[in-house]
Amino acid sequence: MKILAIETSCDETAISIIEAQKVGSNTKFKILGNEISSQIAIHREYGGVFPMMAKREHGKNIISILEKVLKEAKLYKKNKTTIYSDKDSKKIDKFLDRETELKELWPQIIPFIKKPNIDAIAVTTGPGLVPALWVGISFAKALSVYWDIPIVKVNHMEGHVFSIFPKKGKTFSVDSEKILFPMLTLLVSGGHTELILVKDWMKYKKIGQTRDDAAGEAFDKVARMLGLPYPGGPEISNMAAIERDIENNMPIFLRSGTSSSLVRGPKKSSILLKPIILPRPMIYSKDYDFSFSGLKTAVLYLVRDLKEKNPNILDDLNIKYKIAKEFEDSVVEVLTYKTIKAIKQHKIQTLIVGGGVSANKYLQEMMIEKIKENKLKTKAHFPSKELTGDNALMIAIAGYFQFKNKKTVKNLNTIVAQGNLSL
Ligand code: KG4
Ligand code: ZN
Repeated sequence: MKILAIETSCDETAISIIEAQKVGSNTKFKILGNEISSQIAIHREYGGVFPMMAKREHGKNIISILEKVLKEAKLYKKNKTTIYSDKDSKKIDKFLDRETELKELWPQIIPFIKKPNIDAIAVTTGPGLVPALWVGISFAKALSVYWDIPIVKVNHMEGHVFSIFPKKGKTFSVDSEKILFPMLTLLVSGGHTELILVKDWMKYKKIGQTRDDAAGEAFDKVARMLGLPYPGGPEISNMAAIERDIENNMPIFLRSGTSSSLVRGPKKSSILLKPIILPRPMIYSKDYDFSFSGLKTAVLYLVRDLKEKNPNILDDLNIKYKIAKEFEDSVVEVLTYKTIKAIKQHKIQTLIVGGGVSANKYLQEMMIEKIKENKLKTKAHFPSKELTGDNALMIAIAGYFQFKNKKTVKNLNTIVAQGNLSL
């Protein structure tokens, strides 16, 4: 069967088409098309994602992304005549009423595309930015009516769980007997920091979460304090890596994916008289919750105090490297400590780390090192780099399993955006 998946929960407009074939416990997947359009360049100017701006961009781009993905999947055919029943067009109009940009573009393009051979449409309904989510949902509903294809709702976080399966190449498989339970999932992104216990396929229990900022959000905010562009995670992480190399007397390499200011390399600095030490919030708390807002404030005060001594202190790259490293050390230490504690308590066989922050190399390295150090047998999985962030491929995979669970929605009016949807 073929699934078309739509993801618009934050600042990526993404659509994927996959084909799935089940043989015993093994499901083989083929990626027919996978398109993503990032709004990062737009949001970077404002230092973060603004929901209404994200919504507008999704509305402007989503139809052309559909055309692209259909072409990539070789499912794109032109319709010479358009047949719209009155009943359907009223329904579609109603679904598109809240989407100004989409409503304007729809009649110019969609009626001229022939119905593709798709068995289900999967759409992210939450969690995420509500106005952004609605674009994907409205589009999915309108397509569902227009092409008479059923819809499955997908929880964005479940998507991140499934993001570990595709590797290099166009095919991959999910063998439900090869993944051992209990499983633990650490989901770390710009909006979430959660530890989820998975006792069996699609059976989730949240055992911990952040009480304030998400880990990625803290990376982004600290980056802003250091004058680094959005998104801050990769910037901070690269600076931290440089500082680790300096401390280990390693040669400094140019690192890709960073702002150009980074590649100037280290200068001698004498401004810091004492080492930078940041807190490890809630590390020894009895639960599995997290808190990153205090850590962010600690950096704020540190930068303020340093600037009081020397207003230009942040011109010294060495200071930024040191702050970045200590900050990353703190976040990674807390995340790994609590994850290892949960692995031990729940006798976890499989660990999945997903979400934007799972791209963090140091987090990946430390997680593997701590599993080894504690002599645990847990197998750790991380998504391939392209799938750490938001994408529609992961939504397609989760959508397939939801479809197999007979989770298609009968009444489209019941599908609504759920900003705080939980697993
Ligand atoms: O999952 P994602 O693409 O979007 C959602 O928030 O749902 O995650 C984006 C977040 C941003 O906060 C970004 O700074 C962070 O992931 N991030 C990283 C790294 N790459 C992206 N954080 C730390 N280290 C990284 N290498
Ligand atoms: Zn995400």
